[in-house]
Amino acid sequence: MSERSALIIGNGGREHAFAKTLGDNVTIYVAPGNAGTGLMSNVTNVVVDDPATFVTEHSIDVTIIGPEAPLVAGVSDNLRSADVTVVGPSQFAAQLESSKSFACNFMDKHGIAYPKSTTVHNLDQYNAITDDATTIVIKADGLAGGKGVVLPESNAVATATLEAMFDGAYDGAGKNGVVIQERLSGPEVSAFALTDGTDFVLLPFAQDHKRLKDGDKGPNTGGMGAYAPVPESIVSPAQYEKIKDIAKKTVDGMKADGHPYQGILYIGVMLAQERGGDPVVIEYNARFGDPEAEVVLTILAEAGVDVYELLKSTDSKLNGELLEGLNLTQSALTICFASAGYPESSHKGDEILGLDTEFPDGVFVHHAATTLNNDGDVVTNGGRVLYVTSVADTIDEAATNAYSVIGDNGVHFEGMQYRTDIGKQARTT
Ligand code: AMP
Ligand code: GLY
Repeated sequence: MSERSALIIGNGGREHAFAKTLGDNVTIYVAPGNAGTGLMSNVTNVVVDDPATFVTEHSIDVTIIGPEAPLVAGVSDNLRSADVTVVGPSQFAAQLESSKSFACNFMDKHGIAYPKSTTVHNLDQYNAITDDATTIVIKADGLAGGKGVVLPESNAVATATLEAMFDGAYDGAGKNGVVIQERLSGPEVSAFALTDGTDFVLLPFAQDHKRLKDGDKGPNTGGMGAYAPVPESIVSPAQYEKIKDIAKKTVDGMKADGHPYQGILYIGVMLAQERGGDPVVIEYNARFGDPEAEVVLTILAEAGVDVYELLKSTDSKLNGELLEGLNLTQSALTICFASAGYPESSHKGDEILGLDTEFPDGVFVHHAATTLNNDGDVVTNGGRVLYVTSVADTIDEAATNAYSVIGDNGVHFEGMQYRTDIGKQARTT
């Protein structure tokens, strides 16, 4: 085993982004990975039932847990008790993501701004809070595969949603309570802190595009595209400092409560018009964002940051010096291609064409729900299929280059859905 070796758990674009930015000199296993990770020369896709045993047997240096489900299941705790170096918080700390009520109580206690929230267990309790569903947001308390947040457009939709949540129709999330939040408005920013539980560093911010369709229309998705870094015209230096303060209060608060948070902390903030543009925490996640990882990790790696060492250091003593003097001269943008039917359903087995097209410099593909069929063709294998990612000197150039490789003469597949306005808020063209 080479000195640098990693097990990455997950199968999305985020995990492909980890694999691509850890470095060519790292021996990487991805469990289970996708067609894109499988095609990398320094990567082996593996099926792993017991990560602690796999890592020990293969003497792997660091394990990076991509998605929330294994974190919430306690995989990082199992690994740490087997003396394995892990990027990811404990099961307890991951409640910042897995339990909306845990997160609300935590923010209350530590003076962190979030929308006014009340937990309800039945319709009577809900009706006592509001008679206008268009002013609130409904959040199932628990993991619901990214579908647990609903912004109802009518009272009828709110009632039907709540009934379904109480019934367990959202993967069981909501059975034990649903959080009703005041609905705020303003730009959203994905902020990522790396922390060892005591110290933290903020990574360059990203903006995600959660809605399926152009102009932020259509249903919420896991994310249809992202770009980074976010310009000062969107996050002012004063707002930046306030977001940094939220990160500090979060890290300090978890430590003070006896459960230091180690790993990647995702703070989803809204610069709320209703609060004079002050950042308000919309959600915490216990992991990197997807597709934010595809752009944030890419610009860090392009700027020469040792992503491997930086992530690894969250398990013991954060090496924030790796970001000192960081001079970002490039912007990155990523466009998600979803399969027909997404987000309600997805389509598998459609051949993805144009992957061998000659792309402009700085343009490449992050695979997500892709696999190889029996003929060795890359085919769709779920909802968010792949991302065309582009890195260039400006966000305008990155966008032009990325969009130039999409379509009949470039990357395409039957029924594909993508947005044509990724990064628009930061673009001048
Ligand atoms: P979440 O999964 O909590 O990030 O919510 C998904 C999306 O719903 C967010 O990215 C926001 O666009 C929207 N959202 C969540 N909470 C609120 C809120 N309190 N006010 C307005 N929009 C919200
Ligand atoms: N892109 C949003 C998320 O990862 O939750």
